[in-house]
Amino acid sequence: MGENGCGKTTFAKLMNGLIIPTLGDVFVENINTKNPDNYKKIPKIVSMTFQNPDEQIIASCVEDEIAFNLENMCFPGEKMSIKIAKLLKFVELEGYEKRTTESLSGGQKQKLMLACALSTEPKVIILDEITSMIDSIARRNIVKILSKINQILKIAIIMITHDTYEATFAQKIILMKNGEIKIMDKPENILSNLEIIKNFNITPLKSTILLKNIMNNGYNVRLENSLDNKFCAKEIISILESNNVKC
Ligand SMILES: Nc1ncnc2c1ncn2[C@@H]1O[C@H](COP(=O)(O)OP(=O)(O)OP(=O)(O)O)[C@@H](O)[C@H]1O
Ligand SMILES: [Mg+2]
Repeated sequence: MGENGCGKTTFAKLMNGLIIPTLGDVFVENINTKNPDNYKKIPKIVSMTFQNPDEQIIASCVEDEIAFNLENMCFPGEKMSIKIAKLLKFVELEGYEKRTTESLSGGQKQKLMLACALSTEPKVIILDEITSMIDSIARRNIVKILSKINQILKIAIIMITHDTYEATFAQKIILMKNGEIKIMDKPENILSNLEIIKNFNITPLKSTILLKNIMNNGYNVRLENSLDNKFCAKEIISILESNNVKC
């Protein structure tokens, strides 16, 4: 996370060899991204998806888009349709093989991009603001699929986002400013810290504002509980009960 122009995309592109450092070295699993012999190896380990699917989709049909990625990996042709069906099922686009890519919604296009990213069986997927052009319901759906990718397929996910809700799902948040990593910590330590939130221009969660207002009225609440609606509700109920209000 970090303000526009702080270097998030640049950092991500350095991590999958899309840009080469002019100073220092970047290693992906001990592979130096500077070595031209490694240019093809790195994107197979670290896959990257961007904000606008229309700038990435090249095929006119869903299955061709995934097949293109599989062909690049020399995937056996006779097993391709089974693999494509599996990938589409995983991203909740089951049965969409013959659909035109043009007919997909923004959220469905991003799901297709995720299927393409998964097709190379990478160890890491970097997502650069992939939910910024879709509505909140489609966003929640994408977050659910990302959790599955991480927990079931054991693929690490690095997600660049301006969305605070999405950031609550992270194991760690990295905050950048002026091309540098400034803070790396757990979401509860970052997103409940209003000083950090202000300093890095992050939009606070409504629940954090709510608990802060309650705190400003003299009640003892833990702001870190604002990241989880259940814990947030418990904080409020315990205040009401301590004031003899029945819940
Ligand atoms: N560490 C760095 N060294 C040199 N140039 C950098 C560095 N970090 C960022 N830049 C430059 O800053 C500019 C903006 O960076 P970048 O596009 O990565 O920002 P961003 O955080 O992704 O912004 P946005 O939120 O708008 O997408 C680019 O021109 C990039 O080359
Ligand atoms: Mg960017």
